[in-house]
Amino acid sequence: MIVLGIETSCDETAAAVVRDGHELLSNVVASSMDIHVQYGGVVPEIAARSHIEVITPVIQQALDEANCTWDDIDAIAVTYGAGLSGSLLVGVMTARTLAIAHDKPLYACNHVEGHVYANFLTDTSLPDYSLRSAQPGFPMLAIIVSGGHSQLALFRDHFDYELLGRTQDDAIGEAFDKVAKITGLPYPGGPSVEKAAASGDPHAIKLPKAKVGKYDFSFSGLKTAVLRQAQALIGEDYTFPSFKLAERLSEAQKNDIAASFCRVACETIVDKAVLACEEFAPKSVVIAGGVAASRELRKQLTERLPLPIEFPAFKLCTDNGAMIATLGCFKAMRDQPTADPLTLDIAPNLSM
Ligand code: KG4
Ligand code: ZN
Repeated sequence: MIVLGIETSCDETAAAVVRDGHELLSNVVASSMDIHVQYGGVVPEIAARSHIEVITPVIQQALDEANCTWDDIDAIAVTYGAGLSGSLLVGVMTARTLAIAHDKPLYACNHVEGHVYANFLTDTSLPDYSLRSAQPGFPMLAIIVSGGHSQLALFRDHFDYELLGRTQDDAIGEAFDKVAKITGLPYPGGPSVEKAAASGDPHAIKLPKAKVGKYDFSFSGLKTAVLRQAQALIGEDYTFPSFKLAERLSEAQKNDIAASFCRVACETIVDKAVLACEEFAPKSVVIAGGVAASRELRKQLTERLPLPIEFPAFKLCTDNGAMIATLGCFKAMRDQPTADPLTLDIAPNLSM
């Protein structure tokens, strides 16, 4: 079973080819992030236009690098939600057209489920991928941490899962991005906050952990606490404008804020994951989504989980086509329903 996966839910135009749900044959990602950086966030219109410009060459490159022609491809998988409408439309319309033109079955994939499936890749001859040694076993606890989602899900088998909890407000990635803004660090916030954190004291600033439902999260209070502490550090009160903070904070203060936030944000996730392990005794724990690239999160999980955890390659944590191709393989191998290439619509607010 060889599946071409197409992912365009945000700013990455991505295509990949995966065999049998475990072997990565190619993984091509073109990002328009260098344009969005100057605006401090993804501009939906620009993202959609960039997808249109590069999607055809990206797909062709994915086929070429996998040494595949259309004859070798058994099915096409595409992200139909959640994501930005204009961005999703480009991927879905492209996949629909290709499915009709090449007479291939089409599988509609949930972006967040896709992130989880990056963990099922175990083999590749592509350079610079350290993949898991084996596919995760069930029951599997999935920790989903991205720019749009923070949730815990318990998978009893493929396509049989229960959402244990989710964020009540912001996603953890959004909180990283906001803290970067407060401290004047570049967008996207995750990598830059983590870099600053490496030179800071993770216990320098007192930050609260939200009290919410057993497996739920909340990051808006933590975000506000960072703002208040930053204002206090320079001797100002809550009326001081956040966009002026960066120029008044010293390098050391910024690093301490970053390190303290990073520690508490990751602890929030790990506390609940440990709790879920105690209650459900999963055979495996996986992490998924852009924040799964966080070294601090990986460190805390390794130290505190009651079972060993293997992490997906960094390149497979942020948005990519490989995760969608892998999910598509499992859908095909497990006789999941196909999508109608004449009518498949986008679902920008799709949830798990
Ligand atoms: O999964 P993703 O690529 O896009 C969504 O589906 O949302 O996640 C993007 C998020 C951003 O908020 C970014 O700041 C965060 O992942 N991120 C990180 C790291 N790399 C990316 N957060 C913490 N540490 C990182 N190293
Ligand atoms: Zn994502």
